[in-house]
Amino acid sequence: MSEPLLDLQHVSRTFRIGGLILGTPLVAVDDVSLRVPAGRPMILSIVGESGSGKTTLARMILRLVAPTGGRVLLRGQDVTRLSGHRQLLAYRRTVQPVFQNPFESFSAHRTVDCYLFETAQGLRIARTRNEARSVVARAVASVGMTLEGVAGKYPHQFSGGELQRISVARALIPGPALLVADEPVGMIDASLRMNIVNAFVDLKQDVGVSIIYITHDLSTASYISDAVAIMFRGTIVEYGPAAAVLESPRHPYTQLLLESVPRIGAKWDDEVPAAGEERREYELSGCRFADRCPHVTPECRAERPADLALPDGRRVACIHHERIFGPVPHADELHRLERSD
Ligand SMILES: Nc1ncnc2c1ncn2[C@@H]1O[C@H](COP(=O)(O)OP(=O)(O)OP(=O)(O)O)[C@@H](O)[C@H]1O
Ligand SMILES: [Mg+2]
Repeated sequence: MSEPLLDLQHVSRTFRIGGLILGTPLVAVDDVSLRVPAGRPMILSIVGESGSGKTTLARMILRLVAPTGGRVLLRGQDVTRLSGHRQLLAYRRTVQPVFQNPFESFSAHRTVDCYLFETAQGLRIARTRNEARSVVARAVASVGMTLEGVAGKYPHQFSGGELQRISVARALIPGPALLVADEPVGMIDASLRMNIVNAFVDLKQDVGVSIIYITHDLSTASYISDAVAIMFRGTIVEYGPAAAVLESPRHPYTQLLLESVPRIGAKWDDEVPAAGEERREYELSGCRFADRCPHVTPECRAERPADLALPDGRRVACIHHERIFGPVPHADELHRLERSD
């Protein structure tokens, strides 16, 4: 089997709050393992409440934050060990970010097409502006806009949704294999969000790019994802095919999230209490969800639950999932269920 495109191996990040030596450690990401295969584009959503470590994880993939444990491998290469112009250029052509606020990604005083041409030239996709024209035009077209339509205009002349699509176009210029999109619809009007997420689905199919989609918004995640990772206080409590995780969760936290989505497009941020000051419990062993779990037993606090691999391709970190959700269907039974559809 070929090397995965992205392979997160036991990745952790601890911050020191209040001083590098004497400060209190805060484990923002704690032993996360995830893979994006090569050659088979996918949308992987990372879903979790505020403070669960999603942005920290994204920033480690983007080389903006260094892991304090584990490894981030891109096509088998540790991204923290890349050095020299050639390796870094190759990395930046392969992995591109899309950030939450498109108005921060573009300066108010410059036309947006300047950025598109600069990206093409900066990443050595084209030597001259003239040479860059066809690449830039293609990238803009792939998000449903035209270069003529955006050229010469300033950010304020676009809606948030349009500007976000332009920042996706910018990210596509080098022909990346992976986009890391951290809350890309968070600042976008609810009515325009589907525009952006639909663009992601089209890009996966037409351009063949894989996307890590980080969100609070369970409804867009369930709509576009192939796989979903549910994060809680720095750990992944459940991971697997989107339909399996979101239609028949096997972790009590996933279940809680799904129950607290009242309607399409709603954020559950308001309904679920944020981790906030509870984070001191990071230092404790055992299941991170124990204090909020209706099914908790003393065993849950004794040691950290292992990632249990289930036959439908998911992983769940709950020792009681069979007691709570019933027996895991046998692999043969799963096949029968699939065939009878
Ligand atoms: N540079 C930093 N220094 C110290 N603590 C940090 C730093 N970056 C993040 N943290 C802390 O790490 C934890 C995880 O933060 P992170 O931003 O990754 O969460 P998130 O899931 O992206 O949250 P949100 O949904 O609000 O964007 C939080 O407690 C945050 O305060
Ligand atoms: Mg974040």
